[in-house]
Amino acid sequence: MIKQEPNKTIIEKIIFLFNKKKFIEALALSDKIILEYPNSILVTNILGVIHTELKNYTLAKKLFTKVINLNPKYNDGFYNLANIYNKLGEEDNAIRNYEKVIDLDKSYYKAYNNLGNIFKKRNLNKKALEYYILTLTINPNYIRGFYNLAGVLQHFILDEKNKYINKFYLYLLEKKIIVRPNAIAINVINGLLLNTNLKDNFSLIENNNFPKNLNKIIELINKNKLLLQFMKVCPIPNYHFEKSFIKIRCEILNQIYNLNFKKIYFKFLIALSAQCFLNEYIYSETDEEIFKVNKINERIKNNINNNEINDLEILILSCYSPLFRYDWSGKIIPSSKLKETFILQYRNLIEEKKYIKKIKSISNIKDDVSIKVKNQYEENPYPRWTNLGLSIKPRPIKEVIENINLDIDLTKIKFSKKAEILIAGCGTGQHAITTASKYKNAEILALDLSFNSLAYAKRKADELNCRNINFIQGDLLDLKKMNKKFDIVESVGVLHHMNDPLIGWKTLTSCLKKDALMLIGLYSEKARANIINIRQTINDLKIETTKKNIINFRKDILIKDNKKWHNIKDSPDFYSTSGVRDLLFHVKEHRFTIKKIRSHMNKLGLVFLGFDDSYVLERFKKEYKQPEDLYNLNKWEDFENANQRIFSGMYQFWCQKK
Ligand SMILES: C[S@@+](CC[C@H](N)C(=O)[O-])C[C@H]1O[C@@H](n2cnc3c(N)ncnc32)[C@H](O)[C@@H]1O
Repeated sequence: MIKQEPNKTIIEKIIFLFNKKKFIEALALSDKIILEYPNSILVTNILGVIHTELKNYTLAKKLFTKVINLNPKYNDGFYNLANIYNKLGEEDNAIRNYEKVIDLDKSYYKAYNNLGNIFKKRNLNKKALEYYILTLTINPNYIRGFYNLAGVLQHFILDEKNKYINKFYLYLLEKKIIVRPNAIAINVINGLLLNTNLKDNFSLIENNNFPKNLNKIIELINKNKLLLQFMKVCPIPNYHFEKSFIKIRCEILNQIYNLNFKKIYFKFLIALSAQCFLNEYIYSETDEEIFKVNKINERIKNNINNNEINDLEILILSCYSPLFRYDWSGKIIPSSKLKETFILQYRNLIEEKKYIKKIKSISNIKDDVSIKVKNQYEENPYPRWTNLGLSIKPRPIKEVIENINLDIDLTKIKFSKKAEILIAGCGTGQHAITTASKYKNAEILALDLSFNSLAYAKRKADELNCRNINFIQGDLLDLKKMNKKFDIVESVGVLHHMNDPLIGWKTLTSCLKKDALMLIGLYSEKARANIINIRQTINDLKIETTKKNIINFRKDILIKDNKKWHNIKDSPDFYSTSGVRDLLFHVKEHRFTIKKIRSHMNKLGLVFLGFDDSYVLERFKKEYKQPEDLYNLNKWEDFENANQRIFSGMYQFWCQKK
């Protein structure tokens, strides 16, 4: 009888060639072997995989169909077939085959993951989320699953109990490069309030028994790993948390020399001090607190040389002001308990000062508005971030652009092998580092007015081992001095802070190579209607931009609970000092409409290629079904008129020279 399968060494040889990406040789060998073993499941399956790589999807589909006919229990065959259906856009067939895989093997996590992807594509976010949770429950080490989970969580609020979710949130917040903590903050807050007894803790704080029960509360919070981690990665955008933390901070300060069970306070204070540092000490404080803090500060100053300082004193002070602000901080040799706080609030800032000396400038800033804007961001670099969402792997420029689905004929564009990219107004680096992670062989020039922002950016880029960004200081109006052109120019949240955005935009346009692409982010007049109203009040009341005034004005908004201003509390920026300054107290702010953008693009000889924000695009596509609608600004105008806050994350769009 003829054997059905060839011997193991032959199969291994084909797999070896395949893994070395020698697809043609692998194909030649497989084609030869299949003649001898026409019913080999393994070789037919490998042939299908090779043809998938070679993008011969129809042939691959035939081969995988043969595989499952030869062995209707072969789950890899069903899985490969499902993937092919998916690639061919036959999603219903893909779903059926993934389900078959799961019937055969309940632990086939990639099938759950891919089902999640299909449901996400269909905008069935809740269902997608369920499948990603299943994927990660089976394989908690599947990084791609976490990226997918994070992708859904950014646009979908899970407001029901789920017994696994907090564990996954914790994982996402612990990793430096999967997701911006801000982007999933509302979900994390829901997870904390629904899945833990945190609400009870808050009521413990608000009831008459507080502060007698302080130890108990701290112990309860200490058990909540997710909350402690959350406090260390972003300002928590929720007033209940803020109120409770303000009360606890004040109470610990009151009892700092009389605390029982001192040990339990370290863990909590390290997290609280990180939270206060990240929100740039936006919590309001009473005169009594200020008095007590000053007293401790004096005591430490006087005892710095005789070792009579305790770590709790230092930690509580670090909840009121960053350690580098205290003139004694350089003299302290931090104990192991203080190390984390010292790195965050002292060492990082010393490092940034060193970076500043190395950053080159292209010009002296002369424009009046640019000088004011520079000063603002020197005082308050924005945003101060910890973790961010990077691409899993960098790809060639053409592939990245292909994925954005722009209104261009990619076959007519000759992209450079080494993409030269300009990030104009890179701020604290989030944008530049994210872009750097997307493109293979990219060389990035990141420009900003503010040395302090650039130093923050450079420190974070080094921390993440991101070596292909050159950070430079200067006004984008002076870019011509560099005499350099780029394949891609990105400027998000920048032009609207210039004296004349059109002149800034024109300068950026002059930096484009032939066929180069440009990504622009601009404030929308409609989406910022409530902010305009608040800014007007600030102007009318002639409130000067000082930290104290920012904190007091914000406190007023929170306490008075003015309905008209209600949705300002939904903005993550409302929960940090530089955020509120950027949001409400900016020295210069222009806003745009789609009409105005179109008119500017006409003046600059630019054409619109499409919007960039996936959430906005998904919403638009639900109502405007024709593919060409995506590039029709009239339709986008109608869409914005019907959804006034849709561009609250700015208009972010691509364009190109005509
Ligand atoms: C709101 S931040 C946005 C930062 C970054 N694009 C992001 O998305 O995270 C605006 C940044 O633009 C910079 N900026 C404003 N006007 C500029 C100019 N004329 N030249 C260079 N940078 C400028 C500011 O210094 C600030 O860091």
